[in-house]
Amino acid sequence: DVIDISQVPKTGCWTYDPGFGSTAACESKITYIDGEKGILLHRGYPIEQLAEKSNYLETCYLLLHGELPVGTEKENFQKIINQHTMVNRSIEQFMSGFRYDAHPMAMLCGVVGAMSSFYHDSMDINDPEHRLITAHRLIAKMPTLAAMCHKHFIGQPYMYPDNSLSYSENFLHMMFGTPCEPSNINPVVAKAMDLLFLLHADHEQNASTSTVRLAGSSGANPFSCIAAGIAALWGPAHGGANQAVLEMLEQIGDEKHIDGFIKRAKDKDDPFRLMGFGHRVYKNFDPRAKVMKEACDAVLAELGIENDPLLKIAKRLEQIALEDEYFVAKKLYPNVDFYSGIIMKAIGIPTEMFTVIFATGRTVGWISHWNEMLSNPYRIGRPRQLYTGSPKRDYPG
Ligand code: ACO
Repeated sequence: DVIDISQVPKTGCWTYDPGFGSTAACESKITYIDGEKGILLHRGYPIEQLAEKSNYLETCYLLLHGELPVGTEKENFQKIINQHTMVNRSIEQFMSGFRYDAHPMAMLCGVVGAMSSFYHDSMDINDPEHRLITAHRLIAKMPTLAAMCHKHFIGQPYMYPDNSLSYSENFLHMMFGTPCEPSNINPVVAKAMDLLFLLHADHEQNASTSTVRLAGSSGANPFSCIAAGIAALWGPAHGGANQAVLEMLEQIGDEKHIDGFIKRAKDKDDPFRLMGFGHRVYKNFDPRAKVMKEACDAVLAELGIENDPLLKIAKRLEQIALEDEYFVAKKLYPNVDFYSGIIMKAIGIPTEMFTVIFATGRTVGWISHWNEMLSNPYRIGRPRQLYTGSPKRDYPG
């Protein structure tokens, strides 16, 4: 009797689906997932093949345009992205206003939102050309902004982009300040970095992408829509899990404590969850996690750190969870965040930057979905609710 029947629409089907477990909010041609079989396709191409044969920027082109680049398209795309890697000088001043120890995700969210105040020349969201320029700007500037967040956090001067480097090399250069020759960047590390961006590029209607679509459906400025996506990504149940995995491994501290943590994860009265395990859609091995695991092994071998105590805990945890009755019955497999955190730690990226790197890779997915939505007829997103509050009553007196 607390449901206001007059609110129920006269047409269509009224559903109550907390967490949107069985609600499709849109049509999309970008990414296909079969969670039961562990399949992930971008524009029809399996993620495993893209990881092996493509690279991040080519995958960006594919997600944005729907087809792989042909002829000179790949080179031209690279050139266009290179043209946009710099950020306005005022962004540096904007960044300097953040507290010295602000979390890099807080800074990224703020600075990307602030970008909406810098670009007025291309803000007709109904013009496909303007939407494309916005996508190029975001793909190009995200590594620059991400690295600036890191430098501010550690109190070092910002590094300018070097467009003679590849996308991932350039990011590593701006992060670590290595001299500007590609030979100074370990190719295995640069390849792993590129793979990290590629494997995070898109994942259909996850919380952050749905947030970008919802914000965009009101006609809002795209930079502020992406800032909304960054905010949604930050939580530990979503992109923040990669940081949470490393913190959990540090908390476990020793292999002898693993059983205690597994016990806690299974205890219904304990809110603790094994970070990096489980996924809303995948009830099988996440195909990205499989690729990430292989890359992880290659990076650890290259850097000669297979015996790092945290990495040993991670391997043991993975093995136990894969055999444990509870995790098997609930189909809780290691997800992409489990291995990505280990790779990033191995290549020297500080934990606070993990989710920023996820956001950098995911930017193309967010902007591709925003662009797809605006390229087709759409309505403002407006979910309904089941009202469970007080019935109508009179104000006292
Ligand atoms: N550890 C222990 N138990 C778990 C875990 C976990 N990591 N994940 C799910 N469960 C249990 C739940 O307690 C629940 O048990 P119940 O059926 O007895 O109530 C059951 O498995 C189903 O869990 P839900 O929370 O209903 O699953 P949902 O689809 O809502 O959540 C999520 C998915 C958020 C990813 C969850 O598995 C989780 O919190 N994992 C840890 C955080 C994490 O790794 N997030 C990254 C996700 S991937 C990404 O964003 C890129």
